[in-house]
Amino acid sequence: MLAVALATSFFVLAAGKPVARSLQVHEARASVPQGFVLDGPASPDTLLNLRLGLVSSNIDGLIGALYDVSTPSSTKYGQHLSKAEVETFVAPTTETLDAVHEWLSDNGVTADTTSSAGDWLMVSMPVDKANVMFDANFSVFSHESSGQQSIRTLSYSIPTDLKAHLDFVHPTVTFTPPSAKLPLKVTPRSVAAPTAPKNRSTSGDPAGDCPDTYIDTGCLAALYNIPRTPATEPSNYIVVTGFDDEYANQGDLQTFLYWNRPCMSDTTTFTVEELDGGGNDQDPSDAGYEANLDTQFTVGVATDVPVIFLSVGENSTDGVFGFLDVANDILNNDTLPSVITTSYGSNEEYISFNVANSLCNAYAQLGARGVSVLFSSGDGGVSGTQSESCTDFVPSFPSGCPYVTSVGATQSYEPEVAADFSSGGFSNYWATPSFQASAVSSYLSYLGSTNAGLFNASGRGFPDVSAQGVTFRIAYDGYWVDLDGTSCSSPTFASVIAVLNDQLVANGKPTLGWLNPFLYSTGASAMNDITSGDNPGCNTNGFSATTGWDPVTGLGTPNYDLLLSAAGL
Ligand SMILES: *[C@@H]1O[C@H](CO)[C@@H](O)[C@H](O)[C@H]1NC(C)=O
Ligand SMILES: *[C@@H]1O[C@H](CO)[C@@H](O)[C@H](O)[C@H]1NC(C)=O
Ligand SMILES: *[C@@H]1O[C@H](CO)[C@@H](O)[C@H](O)[C@H]1NC(C)=O
Ligand SMILES: *[C@@H]1O[C@H](CO)[C@@H](O)[C@H](O)[C@H]1NC(C)=O
Ligand SMILES: *[C@@H]1O[C@H](CO)[C@@H](O)[C@H](O)[C@H]1NC(C)=O
Repeated sequence: MLAVALATSFFVLAAGKPVARSLQVHEARASVPQGFVLDGPASPDTLLNLRLGLVSSNIDGLIGALYDVSTPSSTKYGQHLSKAEVETFVAPTTETLDAVHEWLSDNGVTADTTSSAGDWLMVSMPVDKANVMFDANFSVFSHESSGQQSIRTLSYSIPTDLKAHLDFVHPTVTFTPPSAKLPLKVTPRSVAAPTAPKNRSTSGDPAGDCPDTYIDTGCLAALYNIPRTPATEPSNYIVVTGFDDEYANQGDLQTFLYWNRPCMSDTTTFTVEELDGGGNDQDPSDAGYEANLDTQFTVGVATDVPVIFLSVGENSTDGVFGFLDVANDILNNDTLPSVITTSYGSNEEYISFNVANSLCNAYAQLGARGVSVLFSSGDGGVSGTQSESCTDFVPSFPSGCPYVTSVGATQSYEPEVAADFSSGGFSNYWATPSFQASAVSSYLSYLGSTNAGLFNASGRGFPDVSAQGVTFRIAYDGYWVDLDGTSCSSPTFASVIAVLNDQLVANGKPTLGWLNPFLYSTGASAMNDITSGDNPGCNTNGFSATTGWDPVTGLGTPNYDLLLSAAGL
């Protein structure tokens, strides 16, 4: 018998034919997602670059360790993990690697390992081969409003005996629009913003108060008690991510700082790092509103904290806007920022659960290593990251991931109230995590039967916190421009955290890392509770802000002094 079996397998290998294995559907969609149309079959010889996510040896261990180092009452609070410690949890077992590589080589496929922990592989094969190997029907789909075409399938299978080893194949059932840009509202002012002269005033920054008609850095400092003394710790830096080849302009930053922060050195700037063909075009007319906003308000609020603008090009092929490439790129680094802020987002439903969960676990890895990962919650109220037609409420991605801190928007200051576009709600992918269980349960009692059936009451609630998000005045190509969106709020909150981290590091303490367990416990009373306003959408009034946490403004806006003492200083 043994001899026969060996002979058979030898024959199969010699003939180069795939070994027949029983396949089982792994991920599928019932229909083409809203906003996309099927154009027709994909050409059989088109080459597909597919990413394979392997099952990690111990994700539960990673999450346990993340909670231990991020929960203020834990004895391990602040004892962040090293790159190697995180990778020990995330790396696949030898058994997994052997099983997947054997299956690939049986099919004549070679794989490149593309992550430092070994949990990502990349393979290339033509459509006809992929259709057989994954029992799929790769076809061409168009995103209706942009016309962008991509090759996806509504379903794919993997061998039954690989279920415990292969987490997903991507991009397959993930259908994303070309960009995760949020719909910033742009109001150009006809007032020119004169170019900054080289000689700076030494008489002091403008008094910290709020002009009546717009928000500047002095206003934020006054509202949130943010100190403007220069940071001293170069190891504590912020990464601002930018996508779609949006450029941040250094000349516009100089103009902004001249008027907002005349006491800061005239050599203050951000540095640029590039990914996926990103760039650093400094032609003033090529600057992006989002990129200028995010760099001007981080550099201008977090005094002398170094800022890196990470420019991600439009040619990212990761199938999730470049978010995956950014997470893996930063995780591969030995040196990490203390804060990452991203003013982009998407709707959860576009991304397959397995892929979304893998990205969420990448944010958990960053948190375990001591990085705070902040995202804007989105600008469509309860209708999603962008305003759109809907019946059920549309949760945002990655705001629904428990390991990011989602930032909503407020406006006005006497009193400060919710901005009506501030996205918030409950994830369909992640359950209510322990750190917010009591906050969410109080809100649900307050809510009663309002909006019942339109949202997932057992999901993770977002946003976690909020900050001003209306009429942020930036310098843009020689003019002042006012912007509205949660895009303003995430860089603002990120800057507050970066200034706190500077103080912590200067006092020999660790950075805050993953913020949520801190914010919902000792940090909660350090927030300005926002109790009025709502976030309409889907033909409803959405949710209302109220006392305590709510899915419009989260726990509220920061009070730096109180946060500093909550953090133990
Ligand atoms: C595969 O998809 C094409 C459209 O791309 C469709 O015409 C065809 O019927 C599908 N085949 C199967 C077996 O479902
Ligand atoms: C700064 O430069 C401007 C124009 O170059 C000049 O008019 C002004 O007097 C200078 N101010 C000081 C304090 O040197
Ligand atoms: C992105 O792709 C387009 C179309 O394939 C190409 O023309 C362009 O040069 C690429 N850009 C970069 C920065 O690689
Ligand atoms: C990655 O590490 C290098 C070397 O320490 C550093 O120069 C770079 O800024 C880091 N990149 C990011 C995105 O943190
Ligand atoms: C609601 O959330 C729970 C917890 O994450 C999840 O198991 C369930 O599938 C979600 N329901 C729907 C309809 O998405």
